[in-house]
Formats: sequence, C-alpha cells, structure tokens
Amino acid sequence: MAAYQLVAFDLYGTLLDIATLAGKLSAVLGRDATPLLGPWRKAQLERTWELNRMGTYEPFDRVTAWALARVAPDLDEAMRARLAAAWLTLPAYPDAAAALATLRAAGARTAILSNGTRAMIESALAAANLPIDVVRSVDEVGVYKPDPRAYAMLDDMAPAAATLFVSSNGWDAEGAKRNGRTVAWIDRGGPAPGIDPDHRVRSLAELAGIV
Ligand code: LAC
Repeated sequence: MAAYQLVAFDLYGTLLDIATLAGKLSAVLGRDATPLLGPWRKAQLERTWELNRMGTYEPFDRVTAWALARVAPDLDEAMRARLAAAWLTLPAYPDAAAALATLRAAGARTAILSNGTRAMIESALAAANLPIDVVRSVDEVGVYKPDPRAYAMLDDMAPAAATLFVSSNGWDAEGAKRNGRTVAWIDRGGPAPGIDPDHRVRSLAELAGIV
C-alpha cells in the first residue's frame, strides 16, 4: 500500500530531463546549444515570477518563446520556433516510467502539476510514454508556481494529508512546503529548497522505494 493516495509531480526537470534538450537544440541550431540552455531556462522561470509579481498571465509556451527571444535575439523567428518546439518532446529520466508504474501498482494515483500548458504537458508525456493519471496545468488558474493558488489545485484531487508533491526544482519544493504541502525534493545537484522538505531523495527510483 502506498503511503499517499496521490503523488503529484512537477514536470520539467523532475520527470523530464531538461539537460537532454542540449543535444536536440544543437542539432537544430547546427552548433553547440549547451551555453544557450541554462540562460533560456533561467529567463523562462524568471518571466513566470515577473508575471506573478505584475498580476498578469501569459501561457508557458509564450513565456518559453519570450525567454528564448530574450537570451538569443540574434536568432530569427523561424529558428526560435523550431528550438521552442523541442520542449514538446523532452525525454524522461531513465527511471521515471518504472517509478510511476511502481507507485500506481502500490495504489497511488499519479498526477502532474506543471507550469506547462496542457498541450505542452500532454505532448511531452505521450512522447516519453509516462503513465500519469491526472494532468493539471496552472493555466487553469492563470498564475504560476510558487503562488499558493497553483498548489491549491492539488486539493481538487485528494486530501492534503494524503498527497505528496514531488519536485527537483528547489524553489518549487520550497513553494509547496510554504503552502503547507508534504513535499519530496529530488536532489539532482540543483539549488536546495530554503525549507527542509519532508523527503529528500536522489532519484525517482529512490522516491518509489520510500512512498
Ligand atoms: C514545471 C516547471 C516549473 O513543470 O518545471 O512546472
């Protein structure tokens, strides 16, 4: 029996491996895109927080395109569109599918709570062939994580005491924790949450073992 009724995952960087984008982007660009990826992701996230501060909302596909234009203004629009499309088919971490299957076999429902639009999330999940029961996008509430209204979407799915939120993004794990959630942080070497998570693991396989 799983310890939680619902295990809800962040998507990018948690189930899907953003680092693998570098190879795909390099192939499209015709040169090494690794130096572009970090600043792009940073600008993407900072834009979501800026929109939250301004009290406005633009969907994550537009945020992603905006961020690329910001960090690579030299690229033409057609090239930027081809690069942005790579976010639709990101590979999962190698242990993701098995971990999700283990959780489901133990009786837990699996969910996504992501900043991505529903179309982005569904495309990536289908491409990565991940078994997920419920997909929720912050698009539904028009505000990005770590705003409490984003994490409150978890309450539609299961009682808070029976829900585990999982993220490898430290700021996201911290936001959920500040919102009173039970949180697992996957430590993949990125910045740690400012508040201790309930569980700290190093992989999805390890997570499946403790849940
Ligand atoms: C997400 C981003 C924050 O999937 O990684 O919500």
